[in-house]
This record gives sequence, C-alpha cells and structure tokens, in this order.
Amino acid sequence: MNKYNIVLIGFMGSGKTTIGKRLSLHYKKEFIDTDDFIEKKEGMKISEIFQKYGEEYFREKEEELCERFSIKKSKIISTGGGIIKNTKNMDNLKEGGKIFYLQTTAEKVIENLKNDNTRPLLQGDNKYEKVKALLEERTPLYEKYADHTINVCDSSLEYTVSLIESIIDDFK
Ligand code: S3P
Repeated sequence: MNKYNIVLIGFMGSGKTTIGKRLSLHYKKEFIDTDDFIEKKEGMKISEIFQKYGEEYFREKEEELCERFSIKKSKIISTGGGIIKNTKNMDNLKEGGKIFYLQTTAEKVIENLKNDNTRPLLQGDNKYEKVKALLEERTPLYEKYADHTINVCDSSLEYTVSLIESIIDDFK
C-alpha cells in the first residue's frame, strides 16, 4: 500500500467517497475527495461552480488537481465521476496509483441518489434517461483505465471494502 495512491473511479452515486473514507481509516492514510477539495479551494459548492463558471471551468480545476497525483504518495483518492473524460487526468492518476473502478447500474445510481439533488449533470426531468446515457458513454472509459473492477451493485459496503482491502494487501 505504501507504494501507491489508491484511486477510486466510477459513476456518480457508486460509493466512491464512502468507500474511500473506509479505506483511509483502515490504512491510516490521507483521504482526498477531488470534489471536496475543489469545493474547499473555490469556496463554493460544485453546483455553484457549474452555474457560475460552467462545466469547462470545473474540468480545468479537476485537471490541475490530478496533476499533483502523478506522484506515488500512498493517499486514498476518491474522484468525481467525470474524471475519466480527460486522458491527462488518467495518465497522471495511473502514474502514481492503482485504479479501482466501482462498477454499478443506472437503477442502483437512481436508488442511491434518490434524496440527493446536488449533481448538476442530473438536474431536471428524466433523471433515469440521463444516468443511462452518461453511463453508457462513460463505461468504456472506466473499463479502459481500471486496474481492478469491483462490482458494487449486489454487495454490501462491508464486503466491497474488504474485497478492495484484500486486493491492496496483495500488492507487492
Ligand atoms: C460529475 C460527478 C460528480 C462531480 C460533478 C460532475 C460527473 O462527482 O464531480 O458533479 O461528471 O460525473 P461524484 O461522482 O462524486 O458524484
């Protein structure tokens, strides 16, 4: 574990932040959530950043942040669901870390986010269709960059966390 950052990628509502926090507690390593980091730095919620400056500005902030993570520092990093849209981000993250893709379904995302309206890309009507379309578009990218794919749909949080830990513990 000491050699790498552990990077969690996956769709909105797949559990990256929750799982990342658990791993950080277990390994006593620093936890970084890219959305949280950007919100604190900008002094604004993600939804406000999108509203005021647009998605492109937010993506620039993500890119700046990922540049720091090409260094192997044994951090646990949970990323925003769109991080994979930028090749540079993934080159940097892969250079310093092992990438775990938390794989889920549109149905599960809808269930997990049913009381959460904070995601700017899922505002308005037809949430299910929006999730489905984005998930379809992004799945090949998540798959392309994953070192490990973890299906999080049918498993408890405890099982998922212990599965990831068992993979990390096997790293040389
Ligand atoms: C986004 C996912 C969000 C956040 C922003 C954009 C995306 O993060 O970065 O709303 O493009 O999928 P989570 O995956 O943590 O919800």
